[in-house]
This record gives sequence, C-alpha cells and structure tokens, in this order.
Amino acid sequence: VPEEAARRAAALRDEIAYHDELYYGRDAPIISDAEYDALVAELRDLETRYPQLVTPDSPTQRPGAARSRTPFAPVRHLEPMLSLDNAFDREALIAWGRRVQRQLDAPVRYVCEPKIDGLAVSLQYEDGELVCAATRGDGEVGEDVTANVRTIADVPRRLRAEPGERPRRLEVRGEVFMPIAAFEELNRRQGEAGRRLFANPRNAAAGSLRQLDPAVTAGRHLAIFCYQPGAKEGGPELRTHTQTLRWLAELGFPVNPHIEAHDDLDAVYRFCRRMEGQRHDLGYDIDGVVVKLDDLAQREVLGATSRAPRWAIAYKFPPEERTTRLRDIMVSIGRTGRATPFAVLEPVFVGGSTVSLATLHNEDEVARRDVRVGDTVIVRKAGDVIPEVVGPVPAKRPPEARPWVFPDTCPACGGPLVRLAGEADHYCVNFDCPAQRVQRVVHFAGRSAMDIEGLGEERVRQLVDAGLIDDAADLYGLRVEQLVPLERMGPTSAAKLVAAIEASKDRPLARLLVALGIRHVGPTVAQALARELRSLEAIEHAPPERLQEVEGVGPVIVESIRRFFEFEQNRRVVEKLRAAGVRTAEAARTAASAAGPSLAGLTFVLTGTLTHFTREQARAAIEERGGRVSSGVSTRTSYVVAGTRPGSKLERAEALGVPVLDEAAFERLLEIGPTP
Ligand code: IVH
Repeated sequence: VPEEAARRAAALRDEIAYHDELYYGRDAPIISDAEYDALVAELRDLETRYPQLVTPDSPTQRPGAARSRTPFAPVRHLEPMLSLDNAFDREALIAWGRRVQRQLDAPVRYVCEPKIDGLAVSLQYEDGELVCAATRGDGEVGEDVTANVRTIADVPRRLRAEPGERPRRLEVRGEVFMPIAAFEELNRRQGEAGRRLFANPRNAAAGSLRQLDPAVTAGRHLAIFCYQPGAKEGGPELRTHTQTLRWLAELGFPVNPHIEAHDDLDAVYRFCRRMEGQRHDLGYDIDGVVVKLDDLAQREVLGATSRAPRWAIAYKFPPEERTTRLRDIMVSIGRTGRATPFAVLEPVFVGGSTVSLATLHNEDEVARRDVRVGDTVIVRKAGDVIPEVVGPVPAKRPPEARPWVFPDTCPACGGPLVRLAGEADHYCVNFDCPAQRVQRVVHFAGRSAMDIEGLGEERVRQLVDAGLIDDAADLYGLRVEQLVPLERMGPTSAAKLVAAIEASKDRPLARLLVALGIRHVGPTVAQALARELRSLEAIEHAPPERLQEVEGVGPVIVESIRRFFEFEQNRRVVEKLRAAGVRTAEAARTAASAAGPSLAGLTFVLTGTLTHFTREQARAAIEERGGRVSSGVSTRTSYVVAGTRPGSKLERAEALGVPVLDEAAFERLLEIGPTP
C-alpha cells in the first residue's frame, strides 16, 4: 500500500470522526450531508483499491454507513421519496424538456415551483388525522420526527374535509424550512446564550427538527410548504398537478404562492431567471426551481429511475457570489503548529449568513487565487456552507496592492515559520508557542478526549495568558483561589471548573491517549491500544511489531507513536500527568475474568452514538462479559446506554425508570462491574 494512500485513509477517518462529533455532539455540522457522504465515499474507494487499509472500526464498516447518522426510530415510507435530477444551466433544462416532449409526442404543460432549501418530510394521515411525520432518510426509510413536526403551526393535525370526501390514508410530502427572520432571531438568541451559531437556515431547520425535546422545536418557528402527495387511498380523482396542489391547499396544507404553469420551455426558463432575481426577497431560502409535468397520466408514461422521476427536474441556481473587500490576510496556528492563512473580510451577507473570515488553506492556494490585501474579492459558500474566496476582481485592484508574502515568523510567538520541501503547509516549530499550547490544551479537554466541561478555547487562552498553565498537566494543579480573580469567573464557576478537572483524572486510558494528540491516534485506535496494552508505559515501550499486532494499527501509526514519545517535551508532560494522579493505566480487572467483571444476567439497550465504541464494539464488550444486548426497552432492561443524540429509547427508559448510563458510566461499568 502506498504510504500516501494509508495517510489519506487515516486522515479521512479522522475527518469523518470530527464531523460526526460536530453533527452529533454539538449539533453544529459544518459540512452538508452530501459532502459528508463524499468523504465516506472517498474512504470506501481507497479501501476497495487497497483492502489492507480496511479496519474493522472504519466508518465504512458500520452497517449502512451513510445512514449511520440516524438516532430516531425508523419509519418506512408508504411510497419511496425520490430525489430529483439537476439542471445547472439553460441548456440542461431545455435538453430535459426536449427529451420529455420527444417521448410523449403530445403537448406538454410544465408546473414551475420554487425549490425550497429546507428538508423534505413525509406526513401520514389516517382518517384525516396526522399519525406520523418522517424525514426523507434514504428515501425508503426515514426518521420518526412526529412529535417535533406536530409543533409546526402550519402542519394540519387534521384534514379540512368532510368525512365522505377525505382520503382514508394520505401521505403528503413537503419541505420544512426556517424563515430568514426566524433564523436571524434564533442566531441572535444563540449568540446571547453563548451557544454556537447555525451556519444557515437549512442547518437550523434540520437541527431544530431533530431535537429530542419537542418543546425546543416548538420555539424554533419552523414552517412548511407542501408540494406532492405520496400514497393516497380515497379522496377525489386527480388528473393534474395543478388540481392536486389546489386540493392540498383545500385540505389545509400550505402551498407555495409562487407556482406557475407554462406551456413552453422558454417561458419555464424565464420563470427560473425571475425566481433567481427574487430569491432574496422571499423571506426564505430557495436554491432553484423544480419543474414538473402537470399531467399525471403523462408522468406515468415517463416513469422514474430508482433515484429520481423522469417527469421532473430541479433547475439549480449557481452558488451565490458576492464581492467584498479583503481587509487583511492573517495566519492562525493550530495544535500541531500548522500555520493556516485566512482572509479577513469586510463582513458580507452571502448564501444565507454573514461572512467575515474565510480560510485560504496554504501559501500555494493564496498564490493560485492571487488575492492581495486591499483587493475586492469574490466570496461564495462552498457546498453552501464553508465560505470561500474565489478570487479577486482585477479591475478593482488598488494600484498599491502587492502579492501576499507568507510571514516568516509566527504571529503568536515570533518564532520561525518553516515550510518543508514537498509539503504545502508552513509550521511554527516552537513547541512552546503560546498558540500551540492553547490548542493542545483545548484538544486535551475536548469531548472525545478528557471531556472537561467548561474548558473551551477562550477559557484556555485566558489561563495560558495569565501564566497559570503551560500545558495540560498544569490543569491539575489549578486552585480555586487562582481562578477567582480571572474575568468572567466567579467563585462558583471556579469551583466547578476545578471539580471538572479533578473528575477527569479518572478517565479511561483511551481518552488520555486521544487527549495527548498523537498524530493518527483517534478514539478507535486509542481504544484498541488501551485494550491490548493497558498502560501508557506499555504503549511507549512496545516494540513496533507488538504495536502492529493491535487492530487498526499500521506502520504510519507506529511511526507516529514512536515520534511522539521520542520528543522530550511530550515525555515530560506525560510524566507530569502521572505525577498529578491522572490515570495512565487501565484499572486492574478482577482476576476471575480476563475480560473484566461479569455482566451475566444483565440486559442492555444501546441508543445514540458513543465516541469510543461503534455499536458493534459496545455490543461485543457487553457480550464478552456475559451480558445481553436487546433492541427494545422494557421493564426487564437492566441499563440503557445513551450516547449523543439518543432516540426515543431514552424517553422510554426514563418513563419506565430504567437506569440510564452515559458513555463514561458505561466505560466504568465495563471495567469494574455494576456498583450497588
Ligand atoms: S418534488 C419526486 N418540489 O428538493 C419529486 N421537491 O432535490 C419529489 N424540494 O427531496 C420532489 N422544493 O426535499 C419537490 N417544490 C418542490 C421542492 C422540492 C424543495 C426538495 C425536496 C427534494 C429535493 C430534491
């Protein structure tokens, strides 16, 4: 296997784990599902080419990898929810229309609808009552979000129809979205409460619909436009889409007011351009126009592929671009010392949110774009989420603008920034650089590492700046009196922080391994290392052959572990952690069983996502110890293990009074058995 491929696969796994954490752990994804799927697809592709790269815990090995982000109960749609083919320009739109006309050989009427940028839901009605609401999922099976959808004022709970006229069963498809005003209000509140802002209204709508507590959804002011029935039993005979939409409106469903029918493709295209011009005046985001055949019999003739109907197409607007002034190019320093240039922009509203910073990746990327401080630059959102500087507007370049030169010193410590031959990135090579220190400690305290509550980036920077800590090990020497004088810190929060730090001493070895920030050692590799070698010392001194025997560990990881411990400063931090009383070895297990305490006679139900185990690993850990895993919660369930974004099983456990374990408690139970 080429080293490049191994490195890329490891990087992809890290990246996927990182996005999982943002998605599940913080409810703040920064990439779209499509981009996430693309990462998984790239990894799968590499693993197909080099099967040696497959590890049992690779995200590609999870059953239904793309669907692994599904904590809610599954619902099978009565009729599949298809996707749409896209047309990105006039030519593609006209080509689709011509194809349709050729196959039908009869006059065609098109219905044009704004393509709402939200998320699709399917509403099921029985005898006029809303009985179920589900997200699209993979098109066949979605997630049960009924309780949340019931809080959306616009969704009829009961159909407005006389019993004789109402369908016995009806599925209605629509798009749930968050109006811009509600989005801005929500982000204002999030900001005030010190919580993360949502990147755009679509993410906010998706996050709001996938809440565990419907009261949260209710406060988010979601709306819906309905555009299509799915399964239908009873009700009037419908011959056209126009009739259908009218009927849906009569039943009480919100139908978009900007829908028009046109007989020729030029008029359709003119409608698309008109909507593009109006897209910012609607009060909600749209990302294109959906063009559908009006005649339902003609739709039958054309049919559908397994993915999308042939009778409809989505005309997608080009990604929105705005121009703004590039105020400065600055460099930020990460935990490993990597120096990343980024653009400081005159704030500009683009693609649904205000952008003032955008990464420029590295020196070559800045040169490739030839952007200079003072330039007017074009900004857009890559994948509709990540702000990107496309390039300069040459005509507006001020005469004094000079090509940007990568600084040769670190903005944080003044040390040299070096770029090694063959690498794209610059690094600050001063291990004592305050910026690196801050980022290392932030990583150490992070949720998939030592999980120390209340130690975010700002707080850590404060501690480093005040000279209270140099490294993560110093955290364990902090005293309440030292913290109280700090800004935005009172006696209560100081005591809380000290207690949270103290509590972290007892974390399992795997978490400590992640916390140390050894390259390529993420949660799953750390778990395997801890399981087999059982102490930091054993890992440090293990010969390469021994390390390589560990599941998921190859030469790249072995080398990176060696390098980590070779470095004097790292060894010193490890020593300090040990001296501070941080557990560096897995607690001894009872002699009776090598696999740990017995869980015989106990029944577990797993829900949500754990950071240190896949579902399979958690199940294996329980079964190895004689326990049983079952899928449904009942009074006979001994424990429910709840990760992040647990499903309805958690609510059921709480209702039945079944004890619930979080991940840390579960890890303890695996080690020391149930405590009375
Ligand atoms: S019709 C079988 N109409 O776009 C046809 N979809 O890219 C089903 N969407 O999954 C879709 N506005 O979430 C239709 N007026 C509209 C729409 C619309 C937004 C979404 C929908 C769909 C996606 C396909």
